[in-house]
Amino acid sequence: MRNVLDIGCGAGNNSIRLLTEIGLDVDCDLCDLSEPMLIRAQERVAAETTGIIRTFQGDIRYLPLSEKSYDVILAAAVLHHLRNDEDWEATFSKIFSLLRPGGSLWITDLISHEHRGVDQLMWSRYAGYLIEQGGRRYQQEVFDYIDKEDSPRPVTY
Ligand SMILES: C[S@@+](CC[C@H](N)C(=O)[O-])C[C@H]1O[C@@H](n2cnc3c(N)ncnc32)[C@H](O)[C@@H]1O
Repeated sequence: MRNVLDIGCGAGNNSIRLLTEIGLDVDCDLCDLSEPMLIRAQERVAAETTGIIRTFQGDIRYLPLSEKSYDVILAAAVLHHLRNDEDWEATFSKIFSLLRPGGSLWITDLISHEHRGVDQLMWSRYAGYLIEQGGRRYQQEVFDYIDKEDSPRPVTY
């Protein structure tokens, strides 16, 4: 593995985790909408690899990144921000075009479930967690935000 792309890298947690696990020096491209996040991620990831680190500020949907360049693409807690089927399909096509043959995409994210009972159970667990963190009003605000802004999909999607 030589090249990693971290989409919606935030403060770089997932690149750091990957580098820690594999114990290899790889080149990391970090992409995020937020410049302060990228600055923080660059500092933190630089402490874990002697590979080249590049930052790309912008929306993954429109950033001009090189095709067939990455062995691993990480996307943690970011793809659920996509809007609709068209957006998901265009973004997946783009991500696929960025991978080297044999490369892989590793997603960790907020998801929905095709089975209604499982979906209800998981959302009620998430609600419980949010209530514990910030109370009922906070939980409702988060759920309203998800309804308005996000589009979580089932794993099989
Ligand atoms: C919930 S945070 C997750 C950060 C990091 N991946 C983690 O798991 O710690 C989502 C990040 O994705 C970024 N983001 C959201 N939509 C994006 C997009 N379309 N293109 C690039 N970054 C995006 C946000 O700026 C934010 O930093």
